[in-house]
Amino acid sequence: MLSYRHSFHAGNFADVLKHQVQTLIIDALQQKATPFVYHDTHAAAGRYDLRDPKSEKTGEYKEGIARIWQADDAPEAMQSYLEIIEELNPNGQLTYYPGSPLVAKTLMGNFNRLELTELHPTDIELLKQEFKGDRKVRIQKIDGYQGIRAMLPPPQRRALVLIDPPYELKTEHDDAIEGIVAAHKRFATGIYALWYPMVSRSQVKRFCNKFTQQGIRNILRIEMCVRQDTEGYGMTGSGMIIVNPPWKLEQQMKEILPWLTKQLAQDDSAHFTMEWLVEE
Ligand SMILES: C[S@@+](CC[C@H](N)C(=O)[O-])C[C@H]1O[C@@H](n2cnc3c(N)ncnc32)[C@H](O)[C@@H]1O
Repeated sequence: MLSYRHSFHAGNFADVLKHQVQTLIIDALQQKATPFVYHDTHAAAGRYDLRDPKSEKTGEYKEGIARIWQADDAPEAMQSYLEIIEELNPNGQLTYYPGSPLVAKTLMGNFNRLELTELHPTDIELLKQEFKGDRKVRIQKIDGYQGIRAMLPPPQRRALVLIDPPYELKTEHDDAIEGIVAAHKRFATGIYALWYPMVSRSQVKRFCNKFTQQGIRNILRIEMCVRQDTEGYGMTGSGMIIVNPPWKLEQQMKEILPWLTKQLAQDDSAHFTMEWLVEE
C-alpha cells in the first residue's frame, strides 16, 4: 500500500523538527575533511511546490515553516537550516520547501555521496528529475530497509542514515526498529536518525521502550509537541530517535527547542522533551 504522499505535509511542524535535526547532523559530519554518505531510506520527492493543490488543501506548511522562515530572532543554531529555505525562495515568497534529500544535497555540495531509496512510482520520478545528471546521487526504487541491509557499511565508514517512514501500516514501528538493529549490526558507528509521529502517547512509550531493549547504546530522543497529547486523534507532535548523535547536537537542540516550540505552538500545552533513551 503506497497511498502516502509527502506533498500534503511538506513544511509542516514535523518536517521542521526533522530537517532541523538532519541539518545539524550533516553540518557536524562536514566538520571533518573525510568523506561520508547520506543515506535516505524513505526519500519521497525531494522538493515541494507549496502552491500545489495538495499543499494548499491541508495548509500544513502554514503552521510549520511559514511561521518561522523569516524570523529575525531565531537561535543561531537554526541559521544553517533557515538559510536552505531562504536560498530556495530568493524572492521572499515561500514557494518551495525542500525534502530531506534536497536538504542534504544543499549542505553537502559535490563532495559526498547520497544514497536515496523510495518506492512510490510518482515520487521516485520526481526525485530522479530533481537530481538528474548528478553522479553523486544514486536513486533506487527498492524497499528502504532492504537498501540499508544491502548498502551498509559504506566504503567511507561514515554515514548518516535517515529513516522516515510514513507509518501507514501497523508494522512500521517494529519494521523501523528491526531495520535499525540489522543496520547497526553491520555498521555500529553509523549515525541513525529515525522520525516518528506522536499520535498516541502509549504507543510512543511502547516504541521507545522497545528501542531501549535492543542492545544499542548512545540513543538520544528529541520530541516536540505543538498541542496537547491525545490517544489517537491526529498527530500532535513528532520526534526523532538518534543513534550515535554528534556530541554537539544535544546542546544545539537545547538552544533551539524552547524557541521553536513557542513559535509552532497550537495551544498552551505545546512542549518538548529531550532525553537519553540509552547512554553511551
Ligand atoms: C514521510 S515520507 C518521506 C519524506 C522525506 N524523507 C522528507 O523528509 O522529505 C515517506 C516516504 O516513504 C515512501 N515509502 C513507503 N514505504 C517505503 C519503503 N518500504 N521503502 C522506501 N520508501 C517507502 C513513501 O512513498 C513516502 O514517499
